[in-house]
Amino acid sequence: MKRLRFLTAGESHGPALVGILEGLPAGLPLEAAQIERDLRRRQAGYGRGGRMKIEQDTAEILGGVRFGRTLGSPLALLIRNRDFANWTERMQIEPAGPDPAAVTVPRPGHADLAGAIKYGHTADLRNVLERASARETAMRVALGAAARAMLRNLGISVGSYVRSIGGIEAVRASQAAPDLYREDGEELGLLADRSEVRALDATSTQQLIERIQEAQRARDTLGGAIEVVATGVPAGLGSHVQWDRKLDGRLARALMSIPAIKAVEVGDGWASGAMVGSQVHDPIHLIGERLRRTSNHAGGVEGGITNGEPLVVRAIMKPIATVSNALASVDLRTLHEKKGHVERSDTCAVPAAGIVAEAMVCLALADALLEVLGGDTMESLRLPFARLRISQRARLGHVFLLGPSGAGKTSAGLILSHRLGRPFFDLDARIEARAGMSVKEIFRRAGEEEFRRLEALALEEACDHAPAVVALGGGAVLRERAWRRMREAGVTVRLHAPPFELVRRLAANEQAVEARPLLAGGDPAERLSQLVQRREHWYARADLHLDTTALTAEEVAGAIVGLLRAIEGPLVPLAGGAGRGSPMPTEP
Ligand SMILES: Cc1cc2nc3c(=O)[nH]c(=O)nc-3n(C[C@H](O)[C@H](O)[C@H](O)COP(=O)(O)O)c2cc1C
Repeated sequence: MKRLRFLTAGESHGPALVGILEGLPAGLPLEAAQIERDLRRRQAGYGRGGRMKIEQDTAEILGGVRFGRTLGSPLALLIRNRDFANWTERMQIEPAGPDPAAVTVPRPGHADLAGAIKYGHTADLRNVLERASARETAMRVALGAAARAMLRNLGISVGSYVRSIGGIEAVRASQAAPDLYREDGEELGLLADRSEVRALDATSTQQLIERIQEAQRARDTLGGAIEVVATGVPAGLGSHVQWDRKLDGRLARALMSIPAIKAVEVGDGWASGAMVGSQVHDPIHLIGERLRRTSNHAGGVEGGITNGEPLVVRAIMKPIATVSNALASVDLRTLHEKKGHVERSDTCAVPAAGIVAEAMVCLALADALLEVLGGDTMESLRLPFARLRISQRARLGHVFLLGPSGAGKTSAGLILSHRLGRPFFDLDARIEARAGMSVKEIFRRAGEEEFRRLEALALEEACDHAPAVVALGGGAVLRERAWRRMREAGVTVRLHAPPFELVRRLAANEQAVEARPLLAGGDPAERLSQLVQRREHWYARADLHLDTTALTAEEVAGAIVGLLRAIEGPLVPLAGGAGRGSPMPTEP
């Protein structure tokens, strides 16, 4: 890894797993609950052994976070092993031993023999298997969840599902959930979580479960294939210029490092070797002023660089090495042939391996992203990231203005729309016109939830429209889906000012305060400042930020034009410059 580095430590039945991740930017919102969600996901799945019933993993954040945000210092995590309570003597840290139940018969397929010979542990293979155990992957999932938080914050969404178990093919995401497959990898993964085997439909789920039951009856084990999908990945991560910078190679290494993963493919991978070039390569089109592909055989990587399409990688897991109908082995104490050691074990861990694979892809992608963009702080990532994200556009799409009441979205938005020669779309005004009543009235009659639904519909409508300047209501940005749509459709500009300034502007227009239901009932200054604080982490996601204090609406519009120019991609000048629909008109 180039910018991120991580280490894990801890034995499977020791007191705890420890992890350190260095290189996350400062200012990333991060809470233990985000990490624990993925830890829970790793522990589920049909075919797991008894261990998962004992462990209910929680992550303690010991360093790198203060008041819910990363500091830029190393993230330090601790996951306690509940099972340690049953192993306190046999896994004692202080001098003691030997273990009365030493393991001396290595399991074929596990690290037992190779590790014992390498580290001189032939008298007790537990010294090897404790660390080779995939229990270690719990910490990778925890650290990967922190990388995921960073990616998600920027609009990159990572998930996985099971493609096959024991030779039985499950339904593919391209058939079962084509929209999520293109647009939201994480939601795709959460959809898979609803199935005990992380398949995407009921028929596949049933077939895979039956295959596992069959293996259980035969006292055997199974492997399979998982697919990881990352959406919202900008073009330009990785590089063709040096072997160790190619992203496909970095992803392959990250995935191959997972215990029991024996093959990795990017896009059509293995199958492409038997096809002709015209079937394998993805034609390039200019669709909606943007370079696009109508197929994705490459899995989103060309020349070791992401090409703006979803990243699709697959990994093959071999069957679990601990076979209860044990294979032949040799007792290292007597050198007599004996059946391999049987430790409590999974029959099939393919569903869980998918969560580990997501974590490794998150870490590899976050690393590649930070390599391209720098990023000591989340704030400093926004603008260069936006530039990367829209680099395949021949014209800037929509310009979304967001921020609290009084920030200047409508007044500056109108002027900006003139300057850019494109329509102005005020979301609240559109909702009011549709509903035939004011926002305040909608709140009163139908409640906030209904208003938010109308707001989401109006945003969808605006996104489907020709590029416009869109002023959003203050609360329109409180949803992941809204962000996904806005990022897909254009650029987000956050206008802000200190609360006292917002209130001063609103106070100049009493109607404006009256019209805003969330400011009603109490001191508007106080309410506004609380509102801004609550929404801050959403607003912070915008591509461009502008403090409008002491600026006239004209000046704000001018400044936005300047900011937009700063993120224009390499294709815009060819298309006539500046992401503008037409040459710069004179002042309105
Ligand atoms: C999520 C997960 C769970 C696993 N559970 C087991 C298990 O219960 N028993 C086992 O023998 N191997 C299990 N493995 C695989 C072993 O850890 C792995 O085969 C072993 O460390 C040897 O490494 P290698 O297969 O990469 O050569 C699991 C792997 C993963 C990713």
